Amino acid sequence: QWGLHTKWLGSKIIHKKSVPSTQNIAHQLAQEGAQHGTVIIADEQTAGRGRLERKWHSMSEQGIWMSLLLRPKIPPIQAPQLTLLAATVLADILLKKVNVKAYIKWPNDIILNDKKIAGILTEMQAEQDQIQYIVLGIGINVNQSHHEFPEELKSIATSLKIETNKTHNIRDLIQSILTTFEQTYDHYLQNGFHDIKMKWESFGYKLGETVNITTPNHTWNTTILGIESDGGLLIKNPDGKTEKIYSAEIYNEGN
Ligand code: BTN
Repeated sequence: QWGLHTKWLGSKIIHKKSVPSTQNIAHQLAQEGAQHGTVIIADEQTAGRGRLERKWHSMSEQGIWMSLLLRPKIPPIQAPQLTLLAATVLADILLKKVNVKAYIKWPNDIILNDKKIAGILTEMQAEQDQIQYIVLGIGINVNQSHHEFPEELKSIATSLKIETNKTHNIRDLIQSILTTFEQTYDHYLQNGFHDIKMKWESFGYKLGETVNITTPNHTWNTTILGIESDGGLLIKNPDGKTEKIYSAEIYNEGN
């Protein structure tokens, strides 16, 4: 039905019309023992979730809303690498299949023409320094028109249709994403994070530029240098010192 030529990713695909969140379904299935590579896809979500407990607007059949269940044999501290890996896969597919250059805004936003086109939400269940499973959620705005976005998102979110003036085939895109994700993931397990880091930096949003950065207790201007192998963001502060951060929001300077 999905015409997939993957080895393990999507060997089981659960496709639902409408669910609160594909993340929740994936967690439930994982706890019931579902296997590595299970994929949950929904046409629409009534309670899509984003990072930092934000809502993810997905009450529309015009987007890709899916969660991948992964059981990687890597230490839990390496889990953030999978978010970065997924981001490079999405940016790559947008470049190769849709012919647009999107950027990755650390840690998990895909930005096209300075607006958010896609996001990744990685949730991990670990016990005694072992990953039980990871649910990696991918949301992409594909065929929504401008007026379908809620008012508060209109200036910050966009879709592939808005940016390219074309409608795109959701199934084809899912197929490409799963194929490329599997290849990239297998390559990563064999060869480590280095190639992902290179790829990520080729898509890095505002790399080498000064941005405004906000952490829970601090806001300042800094220059983004790149990412570290553990998934942290490497920045250079106005005092010339470099620093690695693990949680922050990046804004354009002056925004
Ligand atoms: C973010 O940018 O904060 C992450 C957004 C992740 C959205 C996807 S859509 C499929 C999956 N199910 C959810 O509820 N969220 C993720």
